[in-house]
Amino acid sequence: MTTQQTSRISGFYKLALSERVSRVAAWAGLTPEEQQALLGVSGLNAEQAGNMIENVIGVYALPLGVATNFLINGQDYLIPMVIEEPSVVAAVSNAARLFREGGGFTASSDEPVMIGQIQVLDVPDVQAAAQAVLAKQDLLMAEADRVGGSIVKHGGGARGIEVRPFPDTPAGPMLVIHLLYDTRDAMGANAINTAAEHLATQVEAITGGRVNLRILSNLTDHRKARAEGMIPAAELATDSLTGEQVVKSIVEAGVFAAIDPYRAATHNKGIMNGIDPVVIATGNDWRAIEAGAHAYAARDGQYTSMTKWWQDEDGNLHGSIEIPLAVGIVGGATRVHPAAGLALKIMKIQSAWQLAEIIAAVGLAQNLAAMRALATVGIQQGHMRMHAKQIAVAAGATSDLIPRVVQTMIEEGNIRLERAKALVQEFCQSL
Ligand code: MEV
Repeated sequence: MTTQQTSRISGFYKLALSERVSRVAAWAGLTPEEQQALLGVSGLNAEQAGNMIENVIGVYALPLGVATNFLINGQDYLIPMVIEEPSVVAAVSNAARLFREGGGFTASSDEPVMIGQIQVLDVPDVQAAAQAVLAKQDLLMAEADRVGGSIVKHGGGARGIEVRPFPDTPAGPMLVIHLLYDTRDAMGANAINTAAEHLATQVEAITGGRVNLRILSNLTDHRKARAEGMIPAAELATDSLTGEQVVKSIVEAGVFAAIDPYRAATHNKGIMNGIDPVVIATGNDWRAIEAGAHAYAARDGQYTSMTKWWQDEDGNLHGSIEIPLAVGIVGGATRVHPAAGLALKIMKIQSAWQLAEIIAAVGLAQNLAAMRALATVGIQQGHMRMHAKQIAVAAGATSDLIPRVVQTMIEEGNIRLERAKALVQEFCQSL
């Protein structure tokens, strides 16, 4: 009998870099070569990069961390995150630990259905054109499947046609046709764009109009993921606040983001602090995810929070998130960038929708981390320590000196480069 590995690892951050890599390698069964790729010794080189984009002159590295403690749908996960911002990985790991106390995250997702948009102009009667398109939807879907290639072979392909008439626009009457297309394990941008472009001739014949744009929509609201979780109130208590008080403050913070777009933007930025790093680590298109997430947050005409927070009858805190998440595990950079493949391996990803569900849970956890800090000690306390660490490194402190320099600067309330340099000199002399 094999026992399931746990992602509940306390003190992971205290381990030496090589020890952290060994632990993750043991977790995911990484080969020595794969470990070297993680460490940046091998990994993406400029030549491979030249096959990804144009005019390559090098590669640009970012920190790759691992979030611990995640329990999602009963399964433990270590979650690779690529991000330049201090505190995010530590905070999300801590939040995942709190959700774990409430049983972990429950996550689900829609079928991976994308939208391809076809813009039709010069149609005198958009309603009649819309009806004509619907009457021919089977033909259009069959035609889209004809150019679907491997996605259709893997069970994906056209799932429906939607029509959206705009009788009166500055460009005249406009009919927008949506091709709904299941792209399975691919993000699917190429497949959906190919299908949309291919349908143009038939659409013109059916509507008598002129097709202009044919492109996917990043508002992938047929392809959403959701996650939900509970934190026992007692887990949220601090030295000076009861768990009940913290739950109340977090629920109030949630209402602030729900009603005020100025707060919602920052609140959602914090959620994307969790989402983007996993999207980037897996080689997915984070601009697409950002565009979809924010557009969905404004779907009712007012930009609002991507999450909901409430207190249950036992006084515990509940949170949920629902966002469009078009991520893939085949195609694009996911398989070209060596580290992206490793990120998928570390999470033991089997499907694109499993990845989307994990990402939703990370977004929710990141939001909790930010709100908990904001509703209690404020955000600066944690940030200042990391900031001080960066200053200490910039001042030339070696790893044995960094903690002393950081601690001294924090105690003095003087986190400045000049002070760090002076401390490095002073401590070096006393060694
Ligand atoms: C900082 O990167 C993110 C936060 O501003 C998010 C929030 O305010 O909820 C802390």
